[in-house]
Amino acid sequence: MSTSAPSLLLSGEQLDRRLEELLQQKRFSPPAHFAATARGRGAAPDVLAESDQAAFWAEQARTLHWDTPFASVLDESNPPFYTWFADGTLNVSYNCLDRHVLAGHGDRVAFHWAGEEGEQRAITYAELLRDVQRFANALKRLGVGKGDIVGIYLPMIPEVVVAMLACARIGAPHNVVFGGFAPEAVKDRMKVSAAKVLVTADGGRRKGKTMPVKAAYDAAGELDSLEHIVVVRHVGIDVPMRPGRDVFYDEILAAADDVCPAHPMEAEHPLFILYSSGSTAKPKGIVHTTGGYLTGVSSTHKLVFDLDSERDVFWCTADVGWVTGHSYIVYGPLCNGATSVMFEGAPDYPHRGIWWELIERYGVTVFYTAPTAIRACMKWGAEEPNVHDLSTLRVLGSVGEPINPKAWLWYHVVVGRERCPIVDTWWQTETGQIMISPVPGHTETKPGSACQALPGVVADVVDEKTGESVVQGQGLLVLKRPWPAMLRTLYGEDERYVKTYWSRFGPETYVVGDAAIRDQDGSLWIVGRIDDVINVSGHRLSTAEVESVIMTHAKVAEAAVVAQSDASTGQAIVAFVILRGELEGTPELEAEIREHVARYIGKISRPKCIVWIDELPKTNSAKIMRRLLRDIMEGRPLGDVTTLSDPAAMADLARRVAAAQ
Ligand code: WTA
Repeated sequence: MSTSAPSLLLSGEQLDRRLEELLQQKRFSPPAHFAATARGRGAAPDVLAESDQAAFWAEQARTLHWDTPFASVLDESNPPFYTWFADGTLNVSYNCLDRHVLAGHGDRVAFHWAGEEGEQRAITYAELLRDVQRFANALKRLGVGKGDIVGIYLPMIPEVVVAMLACARIGAPHNVVFGGFAPEAVKDRMKVSAAKVLVTADGGRRKGKTMPVKAAYDAAGELDSLEHIVVVRHVGIDVPMRPGRDVFYDEILAAADDVCPAHPMEAEHPLFILYSSGSTAKPKGIVHTTGGYLTGVSSTHKLVFDLDSERDVFWCTADVGWVTGHSYIVYGPLCNGATSVMFEGAPDYPHRGIWWELIERYGVTVFYTAPTAIRACMKWGAEEPNVHDLSTLRVLGSVGEPINPKAWLWYHVVVGRERCPIVDTWWQTETGQIMISPVPGHTETKPGSACQALPGVVADVVDEKTGESVVQGQGLLVLKRPWPAMLRTLYGEDERYVKTYWSRFGPETYVVGDAAIRDQDGSLWIVGRIDDVINVSGHRLSTAEVESVIMTHAKVAEAAVVAQSDASTGQAIVAFVILRGELEGTPELEAEIREHVARYIGKISRPKCIVWIDELPKTNSAKIMRRLLRDIMEGRPLGDVTTLSDPAAMADLARRVAAAQ
């Protein structure tokens, strides 16, 4: 609890003083009024015996509708290829839609959709079910069957949910690509997954600007596997359509039959592939399955957000193209029959108070966002939220990157008005579900700590060399028991799956790729990635992918990309570039290279700054020493440079960095 009575609507110096005061407090008990009513009250996050974990997940799984009940819970006979509920069958779209409609909740709003230009649409469960059945039939008419991959590249509009659930209904794994990725990156992801159909839009909108999407995709070139492109008319611009291949979404929906039975799928049937960045330039196709994934996301959505479908209005601000959107905009909330908000736009368009306006308009009770967004809101000032009625809020969530205590406290005081527990949720595309998080109403929280593993999850911090548990201090974060929503493999790359996650300490220990600290109470503090993955504004990017794109620029000879800490985006991308021949680095060329990256990956991957250099620091065996580049960018002492082929080059490099910033 707070050290003094919660003070409402603070701003300016008063707010600064309150934040300073709370910074000293370090620990926050669940508010008394909340602890008494929260679902987490009965949960004991850390006391499940090993033998009880599978039983715990089986109990969670039984809350779903199974067409064939499972007898087998967890099969660990072939680690790390674990399976869950493998002899059961179920349909994800049935669980997310039909079940609620049959229970008499057809009129409940599934999504309050808010468009960029102020449009509003409320979509009920019954309407969603109707459109999903129609679109599933339409996909079948286009030749999509069980096991065929369907690409989805759409803005934040309700059709994206229809498309995902229609795929689930007929057992066609979807491969959603974040709308902010460039068409080139989409094409790559369609190609490696051999997608048969792509669902996209005529265009997208961002802060009042409209840009073509379908035409841009066409310009990225042909793909053999792609038999059809379905185009959603969203912004109303002209679209080049190729007869026989391209069809309009509204036309095939109108022509389709209303009824499409939900066929039972094996629990281990793949529900989707989601490409995520790894340490190499080649994205990883993370494969999630039907029964385990739905169990993991629905149960954590209930527990971590204390969700009650009759009471709550849930808003996760992520984009549906990331795993957070898959699990906590689409599958978790719909499986739980929740009412959610879906917002097309940016947090500062049409004005910087739009989020708070939407919370007030829809009576949002649970709000889930990213630290980078909270920091942006901090910059815009408490005056924006302060003019809105945020009294409906009950729980606040954070995801995607470590949250610094100052941002945590601002969220707590200005948004939560010192009434709402904050859940700092740690998880990954690979884990599918939240793994480490406070349970609201139950866990004492500490600003900056994700606290502890959820029930059924076994997390540990281990020594990076020996693999022994670190009782207190820093080490590698690992997961020691399988969990239902775990990835099953990397699409078409079983070997890479084993090597990336399960080889360091054997096939029973999942190596997360993050470092973490365990404090004296056993609480976990996530430090950040230990590999070449960068986290910009909570978006997961690969240094290697950005590097390889920069190197395709005609004027570039060599490049190395590293992350630098950034007060607003968490991390920022810095590129060290060696130009060809006698070329000189100029601001125009810097803009050209940044544009080149935007074109081939997406705007989010543009380097914040480019440092022109003549030579990259390399070891005698010619490996680029990225550690040194990172140290320079962070202003850290350079440590051991003895393995460097030309130690004198470092002083020159430091000068150039200073010049570039
Ligand atoms: C980071 C996003 C600290 C972490 C759901 C992880 C976090 C990577 C947190 C996964 C958190 C995510 N605190 N770091 N609460 N949540 N991360 O796959 O480095 O896009 O490995 O999944 O984000 O990013 P991904």
